[in-house]
Amino acid sequence: MNPLEISKGAVVLGVANSRSLASFVAEKLHLEGTRLAISYLADEKGRSRRRVEEACEKFPPTFLSPCNLNREEEVKAFFKEAFVSLGSLDYLVHAVAFAPLEDIRCDTMQVSREGFLQAMESSVYSLIASVREASSYMKEGGSIVTLSYFGSEKVVPGYNLMGVCKSALESAVRYLARELGPLGIRINAVSAGALKTLASSAIPHFSSMLEAQEKISPLRTKLLPEDVAESVLYLLSDRARAITGEVLHTDNGFNIMSAS
Ligand SMILES: NC(=O)c1ccc[n+]([C@@H]2O[C@H](COP(=O)([O-])OP(=O)(O)OC[C@H]3O[C@@H](n4cnc5c(N)ncnc54)[C@H](O)[C@@H]3O)[C@@H](O)[C@H]2O)c1
Repeated sequence: MNPLEISKGAVVLGVANSRSLASFVAEKLHLEGTRLAISYLADEKGRSRRRVEEACEKFPPTFLSPCNLNREEEVKAFFKEAFVSLGSLDYLVHAVAFAPLEDIRCDTMQVSREGFLQAMESSVYSLIASVREASSYMKEGGSIVTLSYFGSEKVVPGYNLMGVCKSALESAVRYLARELGPLGIRINAVSAGALKTLASSAIPHFSSMLEAQEKISPLRTKLLPEDVAESVLYLLSDRARAITGEVLHTDNGFNIMSAS
């Protein structure tokens, strides 16, 4: 039995290339028969579009369009067009984060005001803005999943500003869950273990984070992006119908360990 019902429509935010966690989620949704609307962050030379189109070969979307989630009008227009193309909007996947390099590579107390605001806007407000739009089209209820990391809960050296953003993101998930529940819409986060992607390559000491994860995690296998995508699909699906406002760790158990 398919965990997701056939003929559902999903918006997936955060495909940058074939290694993006959003791409692994989109592929699995596609294999379950879900129609997809994908947005991406455009650049002036059109390079990002080419990388996104290559990634999308594995999950041909019904609708593909640039959308800067920090621009209110673009967000509104994207969701409106996505809804028209999909016919129904049942799932939203938010796999988006950004912080300026200089503000992620410095100590937290050295973060600039501008960098802080930009990181919070891209990594947290983008969820709020997209949930507001998505929920207005989820007339039959729906399910939303965002992606977080353990650095929201405990200090992970190097994760710094992004840890502050992820704490705010997880808190937003809880507050949004309370407001969305009466509308029949669930929202949860998957706290993924460290995986090599474009976003994670910006994090200082990322290779030590990966090494620690592989050494300390109770499950000694290597964490795969597909593992994270499976958790996202579970939370989206009706099998998780009694779960909302939750953070589901998908990290081979790394988060339960004390450093050793
Ligand atoms: N890779 C990891 O180790 C890891 C672990 C835990 C959580 N996460 C989270 O997973 C999510 C996806 O990251 P990823 O690792 O797949 O990297 P990624 O770089 O492939 O994805 C990040 C996406 O955010 C998009 N984005 C940033 N600012 C945007 C904006 N203003 N408007 C629209 N899109 C914007 C980028 O274009 C990109 O597609 C992020 O929230 C990240 O923090 C990643």
